[in-house]
Amino acid sequence: MLLHSLQQFIARDMGEVDRVIRARLRSEVVLVNQVSEYIINSGGKRLRPVLVLLSAGACDYRGSHHYELAAVVEFIHTATLLHDDVVDESQLRRGKQTANALFGNAASVLVGDFLYSRAFQMMVDIDDMQVMRILADATNTIAEGEVLQLLNCHDADVDEESYLRVIRYKTAKLFEAAARLGGVIAGVAPAWQEALAAYGMHLGTAFQLIDDVLDYSGDFLETGKNIGDDLAEGKPTLPLLVAMQRGSPAEAAAIRRAIEEGGLVEFQTVLKAIHNTGALEHTRTAAQREAERAAAALACLPDTQHKDALLQLADFAVRRSF
Ligand code: IPE
Ligand code: IPE
Ligand code: MG
Ligand code: MG
Repeated sequence: MLLHSLQQFIARDMGEVDRVIRARLRSEVVLVNQVSEYIINSGGKRLRPVLVLLSAGACDYRGSHHYELAAVVEFIHTATLLHDDVVDESQLRRGKQTANALFGNAASVLVGDFLYSRAFQMMVDIDDMQVMRILADATNTIAEGEVLQLLNCHDADVDEESYLRVIRYKTAKLFEAAARLGGVIAGVAPAWQEALAAYGMHLGTAFQLIDDVLDYSGDFLETGKNIGDDLAEGKPTLPLLVAMQRGSPAEAAAIRRAIEEGGLVEFQTVLKAIHNTGALEHTRTAAQREAERAAAALACLPDTQHKDALLQLADFAVRRSF
């Protein structure tokens, strides 16, 4: 399988990253260890750390800061998930109960704070102002993205531009930072750093577009998440926006009601409208376009195995079912 071979290619380095993750997760406070180990060991794809390693490799980086940085990025990602599942009231992640379902909202929020601040401690240790700026900016933008999304919830008049802004902020920004960091620590020319950043931004956008497709069409055994979470929260994602635009007046009205009221009462009606209007295909095509832009951004980098792996990752982002 596509992701599997990628993970194998980078397995030795990922072993080092896991060692850092385990070492830096520790706390004197029992509940911190319980919650953080529960989520960290629950089987995430570890895509963002892979991105740090691959981009560093594509720039022929020879140091060892990439392991720490990859762990930092995974901690930030994990903190956003802990908070996101509270906000989204999600019950299932990575095929298991969410931390909020198991330990409660308060523990999830507070351990999310622990992971954010542990990530900051680790980046201070790396002691590189450019690295700190990139990660501080990314973390801040993710928070803005989640708040923007909160404002968009239950609003059926959200346009595609506003939706895209949310996904660039909440998801693509961390992919962008992860990819850029490899180039930054390798000390490559600014043009290469920008190329990697553009790659990460488009990759992350494609990744979230597909996440939004899978929320209507995925298999929970594969995604490890409950289907329909987005509709239940009244999230105006692209599949809904397209189905509203293209659907009959009755279909558009049903979707509008579903967004405004949330819940899953209209789920079957909405699903039907999404299928009738080709809204998922449209969203997949948009993701494909983003993945192509991601790949194109790497044109200036030399052809290496690591670059090839980055190109495969762009492919995976669109074709994935989990
Ligand atoms: C989930 O990200 C959050 C989104 C940005 C859609 P991943 O799908 O990378 O989550 P894990 O870490 O593999 O569980
Ligand atoms: C991504 O959005 C969340 C973050 C980037 C924090 P979603 O809410 O769609 O992610 P999932 O579906 O819960 O993983
Ligand atoms: Mg969510
Ligand atoms: Mg989602």
